[in-house]
Amino acid sequence: MHVSSHVPDDLVVDFDYRYADEIAGDPWAFLARQTEGPGVFWSPRHGGHWVIARTALVDEVFRDHERFSNGKVAIPAPPRPQSIPASMDPPEHGRYRRILSRHVFSPKALGTLVDDVHAVGATLMADLAPQGRCEFVADFARPLPVSLLLRMLGLPEDVRDTLALWVRQMFHGGSVDEALAGYQEAFAFLGAWLDDALAREDDPGIVLPALRAARVQDRPLTRDEMHSMAMMLLGAGVDTVTSQMTHCMRYVAENPAVRQRLLDDPGLVPNAVEELLRRYGIANIARVVRDDMVYEGVAMRAGDLVLCSTALAGLDARSFPDPMTVDLDRPNAKEHMPFGAGPHICPGAYLARVVLKSLLTEVLAQLPGLAIAPEARLTHVSGMTVSLTALPLVWGAGQ
Ligand code: HEM
Repeated sequence: MHVSSHVPDDLVVDFDYRYADEIAGDPWAFLARQTEGPGVFWSPRHGGHWVIARTALVDEVFRDHERFSNGKVAIPAPPRPQSIPASMDPPEHGRYRRILSRHVFSPKALGTLVDDVHAVGATLMADLAPQGRCEFVADFARPLPVSLLLRMLGLPEDVRDTLALWVRQMFHGGSVDEALAGYQEAFAFLGAWLDDALAREDDPGIVLPALRAARVQDRPLTRDEMHSMAMMLLGAGVDTVTSQMTHCMRYVAENPAVRQRLLDDPGLVPNAVEELLRRYGIANIARVVRDDMVYEGVAMRAGDLVLCSTALAGLDARSFPDPMTVDLDRPNAKEHMPFGAGPHICPGAYLARVVLKSLLTEVLAQLPGLAIAPEARLTHVSGMTVSLTALPLVWGAGQ
């Protein structure tokens, strides 16, 4: 427990965003309660850090790279190098970010990826649907984004489960050592992929051609820059999608009337996706205070860490009245920021939305009578993402 000398006593709240007892049962109720206190407060946990507890202020901090740097994006900072471009600030950030937004997620590439979402989902469901039951995280929500990434990298499916295992260790390993081991395995794997791909003449997938063609200040990317950017896609684009899909699926499994409404009227699905992203937000992101300053009347010191939780930001009643209720017709559901805001706003957001829409339409249509398995005991964990450890489901003949 750490309280810096510049922090006034009345701003100290014993808030542990990773390990508080309430997280296992209902992380969002716990986060929503934090919006009832000061807009900015100090948590003495994890070495001590500020917490931003209003929707509007989280949005402001995300956008304000002049006062809040991306130098550290996790609390505590993990014992591994940060990836490009997440840990960079403008203007350096923009030089690399452009490669992702213009080339990796170009309209042409996105067209291919959208087809891949439907194809990968259909392949997984072809096996699962007749079974009448599954553990949704392991059987669908984790393999799907790994398969998408493999297609982006031009790699075959046979490494999917190994890569999925490393990602699970990285984000949900039981110890710092296990998380680091998962990271190192995945990093080495991507390094080997890159060296092999660079040695060949062909340009498989979407990522390698984009990285090869990229120029930063009139020079090509170095091999290590390419490696870091590929690792960024793995680190940012797999566990997030797994978590978000799982929360959406749990909600529709527990709410048959909503499920029927969505199946009867697919026009509701886009707003339902936004509302579920708001209600069940997942991302806990950090910033670092650049210089001593006063923010919202609070004295902050250079180097202080600041937690911006999109999970918390979706539950501030000042911005979203009756925030714990899922309201498919909520008029301002889109004003939430599940993908961040400002220079680092998620470049994978479009793809993630396609995945979630496909889940609430074509996947759902294949699971009549969907419900949580009676024996299931649902447990949440929190870190950089808020996740369910497992989601046992039954439907149709499996009930
Ligand atoms: C539901 C799924 C997803 C959620 C909730 C999510 C959330 C976020 C958030 C909140 C950020 C901003 C981080 C910051 O401000 O520091 C971010 C950045 C990023 N995301 Fe996503 N993301 C998702 C899916 C994806 C996917 C599918 C990909 C790629 C395949 C991806 C790639 C990235 C990258 C590369 C960044 C860093 C961008 C930068 O620093 O400029 N994300 N994501």
